[in-house]
Amino acid sequence: MSPESAILPKSVPWVIKPLVPEPVYTDREEHLEYLYHAATEAARRRTMSTVLLGQRRMGKTEVFKRVVNRLFFEQDPEDPNAVVPVYYSFPDQPMDVTAFAVDYLENLIRYYVGFYTRQPWIVEKRITGDALIRTVHEAKECFPFTGRLDWMLDWHDAICRKDTPFPQRDALDAVRRVADSDDSTIVVFLDEFQNIRLPRHNFELTGFMQEAVESPNCPHFVTGSEINDSVQEKFSWHACGKFKIRTLDAMTGYWGAELAKKVAAYYDAELSEKMAPVVADRCGGNPFYITTMIRQAAFRQIPIENNEVLDRILKLDLFLSFYMDERYS
Ligand SMILES: Nc1ncnc2c1ncn2[C@@H]1O[C@H](COP(=O)(O)OP(=O)(O)OP(=O)(O)O)[C@@H](O)[C@H]1O
Ligand SMILES: [Mg+2]
Repeated sequence: MSPESAILPKSVPWVIKPLVPEPVYTDREEHLEYLYHAATEAARRRTMSTVLLGQRRMGKTEVFKRVVNRLFFEQDPEDPNAVVPVYYSFPDQPMDVTAFAVDYLENLIRYYVGFYTRQPWIVEKRITGDALIRTVHEAKECFPFTGRLDWMLDWHDAICRKDTPFPQRDALDAVRRVADSDDSTIVVFLDEFQNIRLPRHNFELTGFMQEAVESPNCPHFVTGSEINDSVQEKFSWHACGKFKIRTLDAMTGYWGAELAKKVAAYYDAELSEKMAPVVADRCGGNPFYITTMIRQAAFRQIPIENNEVLDRILKLDLFLSFYMDERYS
């Protein structure tokens, strides 16, 4: 059985799995469209790198994953204007510089080969190391740009042998070097960017990153938690002139209420029509808190029919009540 045929069919195709079930996912259409369009426009060299700002748990990661999946499956890789989507989430685990560089480069290789050879399982299965190298060699037969693959394998080899002074630069730069050399387009989605600042990471990334994002052949879309809260940071992204800023705000009252109703229907919670907008409002339009509140009610089988019930749920869920205290203090 080929690796591909071993995979079960999915209701919505994905290479990177979103957490929110489709019947529950609400709104954000404007952002999904914007990023999808910006990514495909990169083929015409019209797209700037972009930072997606938004408070914690506003749904940044969900937006990124959905756009990446769409780019992966809705484009024809043989179209000369097709753009290769790459999603990378910075790990929050300690990593040395070589491990980071290998991880970053292997991720690029998986998306690049998986997209051009129409083998999504390469990304989904997350193959690494020797198994990935073998897969790349096997993929060469159906691959249009074998030379670029050899480059990437050479860089991978040099990093693994520690035969390069700045492995992280080689990894971050690989996207740009590949895209520039054959005039292809690679769009990189960098998630949980705050993790590059972990104190336990004692190697430099941001400087090298600034070079990598400059090429119009490979715009980078970036998001992360702390960068969203820090005004200073916001300005430094902007000031370096290499990034556009886009904000993912709280859901509007209408969409927050819609989400509350969808979550209630999906998880079998009782929610009266008049309480849906109240829940959305109490949660400040934050999709994560709206979902948590309704799921808590479903779990405890408490019908949400008035404000007192909401207070009761808040008392039961320490995490939620902590958030509400912060919001209203
Ligand atoms: N559009 C949406 N519709 C329904 N639920 C959503 C939506 N967006 C986010 N959520 C809910 O919010 C949760 C958090 O979303 P996500 O992880 O994308 O947020 P984030 O902004 O990336 O958070 P962080 O700042 O912690 O990285 C999801 O698991 C889901 O429960
Ligand atoms: Mg996130």
